[in-house]
Parts: sequence; C-alpha cells; structure tokens
Amino acid sequence: MLYAVVPAAGRGARMDAGLPKQYLQLGGRAVIEHALEPLLDYPELEQLVVVLAPDDQDFATLGVAGHPLLSTCVGGASRADSVLAGLNALDAADVDDWVLVHDAARPCLRPDDLDRLVRQARRSPDGGLLAVPARDTLKQSQEGHASSTLDRSTIWQAQTPQLFRLGLLRQALEQGDRMHITDEASAIELAGGRPRLVQGHGDNLKVTWLDDLPMAEASLRAQGR
Ligand code: CTP
Ligand code: MG
Repeated sequence: MLYAVVPAAGRGARMDAGLPKQYLQLGGRAVIEHALEPLLDYPELEQLVVVLAPDDQDFATLGVAGHPLLSTCVGGASRADSVLAGLNALDAADVDDWVLVHDAARPCLRPDDLDRLVRQARRSPDGGLLAVPARDTLKQSQEGHASSTLDRSTIWQAQTPQLFRLGLLRQALEQGDRMHITDEASAIELAGGRPRLVQGHGDNLKVTWLDDLPMAEASLRAQGR
C-alpha cells in the first residue's frame, strides 16, 4: 500500500516573508495546496499525513484541510524529526508499505513525474527519489577560489518526492543524525542503501528564496495549474 508524509513544520527563515513560505499564495492558492494536489490525486494513495508546527494556525483554514485522506500531526526541531513524526502518525501502515515524502514547499510536482517515481522506485529494494542531472559545471571552493572541477556526469540534484519502505525509512531516520540529514535518501545511504535516481524536471523547485516565487508561478501556469 502507498502512504505519504508532507513535512510542513518549517518557519521559512530564508524566505523571511512574514508567514511560513508554505502558506504564501501562488496563482490563487497556497504553496502547500499545490504541493498536496498531485499526491491526493494519485489513485493508489491510502493516507497522507501533513506535519505541522505546534503553533500552526494556517493549515486548518485551507480548503484542502477537510480532504478525507488527510490527517495532521505535530513536527519537530529538524525536517528529519518532522518526517519521523509523520511516519509514526500513519495509522494502519505496515513496515513493508511504501511511503512518499514530499516537501510542503515544493508546489510544481508534475503528476507524470510522480507516477514514474512510484513505478520505478518500487522496483528497487532501497526505494528512490526524483532528481535531475547537474546542469552547470561544478566547482570545489577553497576560501572563495575554485580549486577543482567536479565530474558533473556523476552529480545529480535531489528533489522530492522520495519513496521508501516504511520500516527501512523509519529505522534510517531513528538511527541517523537528524539535525544534519537534509533528505530521506541521505539517511538511507548512510544506512548502506542505494536509492534509485529517477529523472524528473528542473522546475520541481523548492521555494526557498523570495525570487523563487515568480519561477514557481510560471511553472504552474505552464502546467495549466
Ligand atoms: N520542515 C519541517 N520541520 C522542520 C523544518 C522543515 O517539516 N523542523 C519542512 C518545511 O516546512 C519544508 C520542508 O521541510 O516543507 C523543507 O524544508 P526547508 O525548505 O528548509 O523549509 P524551512 O525550514 O521552512 O525553511 P528555512 O530553512 O529557510 O527556515
Ligand atoms: Mg529548513
């Protein structure tokens, strides 16, 4: 069976927009509503847990909040703590069930990329993630000067969603250094796993800085959303 956890307990410090970036408006809806839409529309999904900050006042006001597949729980100090709280809030899931993890701040996921991830990652014992091959030439920096050039052909940029078996992911997050884990795949890698890289699209961006908003808006418009 297929479940999903969407961590939405961050404060958006880098965006510094007065409210957490997942609640900013993009084309008439909140960023998080766009992020949830393709997951909630995915035909096989059993349950989706949104992980909220303890003092969240915004989520309950959204139209999506009453969706029958959706429930909420309270997150923690780091993103990985929040994801672990979400995994523990999945009511009926079994260790062998699959769990998608997707950032609330990533509004432009294409339904066909989600479908390809689910189909390909479920064939891999260690799951997988959407990612894109590095586009630019990559430099190693030493005190502000380029000291070498990395082999770009081996470098991919990780996105979400990421898909893993519940038991494997929970164990990797419980045992990992959750203050420093920035995605689920890195926890799985540190535990010895090799998640499959499933190629997505570069416009599946995580809104991080203020100038990401017009790019996200253009991408949604191009998708007719
Ligand atoms: N997140 C979370 N719990 C935390 C920190 C982050 O659920 N303790 C969520 C965010 O809400 C976001 C996703 O993890 O959906 C990715 O994190 P990030 O882009 O870092 O968001 P913020 O932490 O909100 O932003 P910033 O780091 O700029 O403060
Ligand atoms: Mg953060």
